[in-house]
Amino acid sequence: MKHLLGIEPLDRDEIGQILDAADAMLEISQREIKRVPTLRGRTVINLFLEPSTRTRVSFEIAAKRLSADAINVSSSGSSLSKAETLNDMAQNLAAMNADVLVVRDRTAGVPAMLAERVRIPVVNAGDGAHEHPTQALLDAFTVRQSLGSIEGRVVAIVGDIAHSRVARSAIHIFTKLGAEVRIAGPPTMMPVGIEELGVKPCSSIEEALDGAHVICMLRIQRERLEGALFPSVREYSRTYGLDLRLLRLARPEAIVLHPGPINRGVEIGSDVADAEPSRILDQVTNGVAVRMAVLYLLTGEQA
Ligand code: CP
Repeated sequence: MKHLLGIEPLDRDEIGQILDAADAMLEISQREIKRVPTLRGRTVINLFLEPSTRTRVSFEIAAKRLSADAINVSSSGSSLSKAETLNDMAQNLAAMNADVLVVRDRTAGVPAMLAERVRIPVVNAGDGAHEHPTQALLDAFTVRQSLGSIEGRVVAIVGDIAHSRVARSAIHIFTKLGAEVRIAGPPTMMPVGIEELGVKPCSSIEEALDGAHVICMLRIQRERLEGALFPSVREYSRTYGLDLRLLRLARPEAIVLHPGPINRGVEIGSDVADAEPSRILDQVTNGVAVRMAVLYLLTGEQA
């Protein structure tokens, strides 16, 4: 891998290679001393131009567990406020002999654009409504860890599909790995032509959850909404919120995923978020392992 810009360009073997490497990284994270010298002397720059808790901290911890230096840069306090372009800023950061640039931006395509300008590997940490590849990798890792396999499983993705980069990356990874992917959400939040990605659009959450092994709930992406796309939060929650009653439609062994941050009482009730089928905090734990694997695979050969 030269860059990680999305799940769409990856094939099944490449995804499997990352997930297998993450297995080894998870073992490192479970040790008393959670640090190996693998990337000693390497520098990871986390350029986050949109808010983030999980992804940014996770990349920072991942770099440090591999003994790399991690430098966090946000738009606030940077020279973007002095009219420096993003291209120029990224080239300047890379010129400090950085080894990897991790980028989150509100605009789709920014990580790919920067990958053409800098001479170091670029990782997409979420770009607009396009992709969030490490989120999909940690989702797949969590399903494999919980259920033992992905092929043939039924994965229901519910919520704001149209504005969600998590949904797009999840659709790519689960279809590539042989799962049946169903999607459900308000008609105003379902992208036109989404079935071309190999998913089954459902007309209700009940239809999507019926017999599902995996339920991925999505937050309403308010930061990307233009105008009201549903009558009220209460109405949204009543129609597309997951509670224990709806969970019973899924398989007894079904697990619940959510990329976070969760909006309790909107897309997911506390009765589900804090219950046994929820793997939300496992996803966060696994996110560190997956990001360690990605950093290792992008830079490890030179280490
Ligand atoms: N899942 C996710 O991307 O969370 P953050 O926005 O907190 O990074």
